[in-house]
Amino acid sequence: MCGIIAYKGKENATSIVINGLKHLEYRGYDSWGIVYLNNQKAHLLKKVGKIGEFQGLNKLSNSSVAIGHTRWATHGKVSVVNSHPHFSSDKHIFVVHNGIVENYKELKEELIKKDHHFVSETDTEVIPHLIEEYRKNNSFVASCEKTFRRLKGLFAIVVLDKETGEIIGTRKGSPLVMGIGDKGLFLASDVPAFLNKTNKVIFLDDGDMVHIIDAGTYKIKNLSSKKILKKKIDIIKWKQEEAEKGKYPHFMIKEIREIPEAIEKAVCQDNQKLSLIADLIKKSPNLFFVACGTAGHACLAGQYLFSSVGKHTGFSAASEFKNFLPTLDKKTLLIAVSQSGETIDAIEAVKRAKEKGLKVLSLVNVMGSTLTRISDYVLMINAGSEKCVLATKSYLSQLSLIILLFYSIFNQSKKGEKDLKKISRQINQLLESKLFISKIKKLARKLSSTKHIYVIGRSYNFPTTLETALKIKEGCYIHTEAFAGGELKHGVIALIEKGTPCIIHLSKGEEEENTLINAMELKSRGAYIIGIGNKKQKDFDFFIEVPEVEEFLSPLVNIIPILLLSYYIALEKGIDPDKPRNLAKSVTVK
Ligand code: AGP
Repeated sequence: MCGIIAYKGKENATSIVINGLKHLEYRGYDSWGIVYLNNQKAHLLKKVGKIGEFQGLNKLSNSSVAIGHTRWATHGKVSVVNSHPHFSSDKHIFVVHNGIVENYKELKEELIKKDHHFVSETDTEVIPHLIEEYRKNNSFVASCEKTFRRLKGLFAIVVLDKETGEIIGTRKGSPLVMGIGDKGLFLASDVPAFLNKTNKVIFLDDGDMVHIIDAGTYKIKNLSSKKILKKKIDIIKWKQEEAEKGKYPHFMIKEIREIPEAIEKAVCQDNQKLSLIADLIKKSPNLFFVACGTAGHACLAGQYLFSSVGKHTGFSAASEFKNFLPTLDKKTLLIAVSQSGETIDAIEAVKRAKEKGLKVLSLVNVMGSTLTRISDYVLMINAGSEKCVLATKSYLSQLSLIILLFYSIFNQSKKGEKDLKKISRQINQLLESKLFISKIKKLARKLSSTKHIYVIGRSYNFPTTLETALKIKEGCYIHTEAFAGGELKHGVIALIEKGTPCIIHLSKGEEEENTLINAMELKSRGAYIIGIGNKKQKDFDFFIEVPEVEEFLSPLVNIIPILLLSYYIALEKGIDPDKPRNLAKSVTVK
């Protein structure tokens, strides 16, 4: 997944695009590039590394039109020549692209036969060359349209024509939004890229093609028809500062500190809509959750919750959903969960389910994202802008909304709100406790040099073990394995040696005793036991106390010390907590 941005207007496009890329860096950060026009000359700058570290803006000349890109490499290694913008042989057409052009090989062969010479290993480079080829007998607009119609795959593309200084953008499956500013027009992968300039946004649909002619003039049409469209302008409530670090050194710790507020906002739902969705759930004989990564772990907790009252509830990672679709009929309600709303596997799962006639409810954080526009029902999780690649507050918001829906099917949404707001206050006390934080920092120092960590939990704590392992793996680069306590003696215990760190998630309930037995069995093999729960136990070598809550609410509290632990271990290891290697905030390519 990459980040693209473009601007044409009366302000300095060079600085707007550079700063916009810095706001899009969470989408991919292995290399970046910009092209801007000044005195009819195209100035191209491409670099390997994070744009966040770029300090040379003052050396770049001002411009009134520019396009830029921050990359997460798919086709072609991380290099200057493979970074975007890519350009035509006559350097009149410049292109930035997010997504994949699946049929680029055949297009490339066709263009090479027409003496086009390619310099990069990317799929993207065929786009400016194809436009150049059509440009021989067509206008800029017609050349782009013909080109877009020939591309297969999911993408968002922005093209700059050096001759006219005009910009054309289109999307098919990958996000592209338009910003309507007082002094100029924006195109970007995501709203935070230009939120400091305007909160007036047009969310583009698949096949839409935007032609930016000058600072205030644009035309939108869809490739499916010739008609010029009048698209709705949405006003975004998020404030730019929300998308800034403010007093915090990293987005991760800022977004962890925003968890109490995120829970409060997640349960602040339109009651009418909530009861409509609750009825939908009640009437659906089967529920099936799909999501990826962290959102998947929230879904698993949802499966436990609704199954506990006899509701037939399934769950699968979105990328594996097709294997379960044959077991689902039209009466099944599919519940898709995603922070970004752009995760390609979740989108594909929803499309497959809809093709089979299933109704789809999506729980999403990013307004106007693809999932919000292809689902039958949508509830926003209201976590606000989440920039750190590691999902933190969005996980708590997803869990809170799923739990609120659970209360709602028993017409207990008011009690649900009350119980969840109580937990958000308890979590706030934890996060404000210096003793709690210093304890986590102490454990982080201890674990930062370890190679392997094992995590166990039973029942509602099993999804928590999975999220624990994911956070430590992606944030600290430590091999961390999660398993249900009951699986311990079926193999995993063979890995335990003297001093092996094992995190035990405990909460009051039926499984407390069995989990303690697991801790004892690990201890007797020499493991170093880190207990997370509401009571210190004799086998614990390190104990982190969390508030005592009902078992089905424990995923909300037991994960808090883990999010902090991942953050402080990352700092101990000198890892950038916001941008761990090889990852991106949401995965829009398969
Ligand atoms: C979580 O920390 C990861 N960034 C990743 O697993 C993420 O949860 C997954 O890619 C799903 O993203 P989504 O919620 O935006 O769909």
